[in-house]
Formats: sequence, structure tokens, C-alpha cells
Amino acid sequence: MEFHNKTVIITGASVGIGKATAIEFARNGANVCIVDVNAEGLDTLAEEIKSIGANVSSYICDVSDEQRVHETTQEIINQYGKIDILVNNAGLWRMWKPFVETTSDEWKKRLSVNILGLMYFTHEVLPNMIENSYGRIINIGSVAGVYGNANMADYSMTKGAVSSFTKALAKEVADKGITVNNVVPGSVRNEGANRETELCYMGRCGELEEYAYLICFLASDKAAYISGQDYQIDGCRKKN
Ligand SMILES: NC(=O)c1ccc[n+]([C@@H]2O[C@H](COP(=O)([O-])OP(=O)(O)OC[C@H]3O[C@@H](n4cnc5c(N)ncnc54)[C@H](O)[C@@H]3O)[C@@H](O)[C@H]2O)c1
Repeated sequence: MEFHNKTVIITGASVGIGKATAIEFARNGANVCIVDVNAEGLDTLAEEIKSIGANVSSYICDVSDEQRVHETTQEIINQYGKIDILVNNAGLWRMWKPFVETTSDEWKKRLSVNILGLMYFTHEVLPNMIENSYGRIINIGSVAGVYGNANMADYSMTKGAVSSFTKALAKEVADKGITVNNVVPGSVRNEGANRETELCYMGRCGELEEYAYLICFLASDKAAYISGQDYQIDGCRKKN
């Protein structure tokens, strides 16, 4: 995969899938724009990307802040002239509670990051992609949005919404050189976490790089004929 002269925005890039994806884009020559609320994480990642030799720009931006998303996108267009690829990865998921114990403030927070944040960024970059007749939008969903996770009802709902948004938008922009796809992770191996899982037939969590490879493939020119799809990457998940 080759991303020279391509500019990519990755939200929620400070850790996890976002970070691994940013590094993979950098290794393949992209101009990498990393977005997060975690300034320290951005600094560490920016140093790592510089050491690879790629161009990198960091943006402290809460994806649920529409005005800040607008400013960030304009700064990126001013610097690089165009946006080729958007990876909507930022998400809030680390809470497990029966729905009856959750509060409306908690739902609103998850909705505002997982759904509105993704919509704000997509809405901001689309005019530039349409103007250039080129774009790759990769949303990050979850198997929770496919099967529904108990004690994660609000989160599951947001990821189901990501899937339907992906399919609808893909149809709107299919004749404009823009593809829209949804990468749907299962269990992800995070730092310090156990590698084994009983949730899939492979019996292990996915490595961060395994998610990054799929995201980069969908962002590449080789994936030009793929749009409107959900891509589960879950080690052959048990359907629970
Ligand atoms: N880790 C998993 O097991 C798993 C499984 C399925 C789906 N996912 C999805 O993958 C994506 C990444 O998850 P992860 O586990 O790799 O990362 P994570 O949850 O550990 O970190 C997410 C990143 O997003 C940033 N972030 C959070 N809120 C933000 C906001 N409002 N604005 C900007 N940045 C914000 C955080 O600072 C962090 O750097 C998420 O969308 C998540 O829902 C993860």
C-alpha cells in the first residue's frame, strides 16, 4: 500500500487501534494528521511518526465539539491542501452497566462522541473530498453493534448506528470517487491485557496491527471498488 501525497486524519489516535493505524499509514508514506483529547499521547505518537520519516500534525480536538472539529479540518486543509482519507476511530466504550443503572448523561456522552463526533468530521471533510473527486472514509464500529453486548446497550446502539450511516452515505457518494466502509472489531488486544479470549473460535484477541492493516487496505487505491460494507475482524466470533 502506498500513501505518498495522501493526507489522512485519524481520530482517537493516541492509543490502541488509532495509534497502530497512524503508524501503519506513516510507514506507507502518508501525511498523518492525528486527533485526540489526550495531548500527551499525541506528543508521544508524533515523535514516533517523525522517527519513521513521515509528515505528522497533531490536533487536540474533542470530536464531540462541532466548532473545534470545523477548526481542525480547516487547519488541515490549509496545511496540506486536501484530505484524502478519514478514519473515524474515536469512541467511548469502557463502561459496563445494566441499562437500567445508566443515566441519560452517560448516554448523551456516548452518543455525542460515537455518533455525532463521527458525523461532524465526516460532514466537514466531505466537501473537500467531493471537490477532489476522491475520498476514503473508514468508520470504526464494533461487534457490539452487530450482536448487541449485554451491559453495553447504549454503546451497542451507537455502533449499530455507525453501520447504517456507513451504508447510507456510501450510496450518496458512490459516483464521486468516495468510498465509505465500516471496520467492525471484535476483541482487541490492548497493552497489558490477556491475549486469550473465549469470544471467538480463534481463541485469541486481535493484535492492533491486524486492525490497522485492514483499515489501510480499505483506504488504499486497491480498494476502489469496495464501499458501503461492514468488515468484521473478530477471529471468527461466536455469535453471542
Ligand atoms: N478495544 C476493543 O476491544 C474494541 C472493540 C470493538 C470496537 N472498538 C472501537 O475501536 C475504536 C478504538 O478503540 P480502542 O480500544 O483502540 O481505543 P481506546 O478506547 O483505548 O481509546 C480511544 C481513543 O479515543 C480518544 N478519545 C476519546 N474520546 C474522544 C473525543 N471526544 N475526542 C477525541 N478523542 C477521543 C481517547 O483519548 C483514546 O486515545 C473505538 O471506536 C472503539 O469503540 C474497540
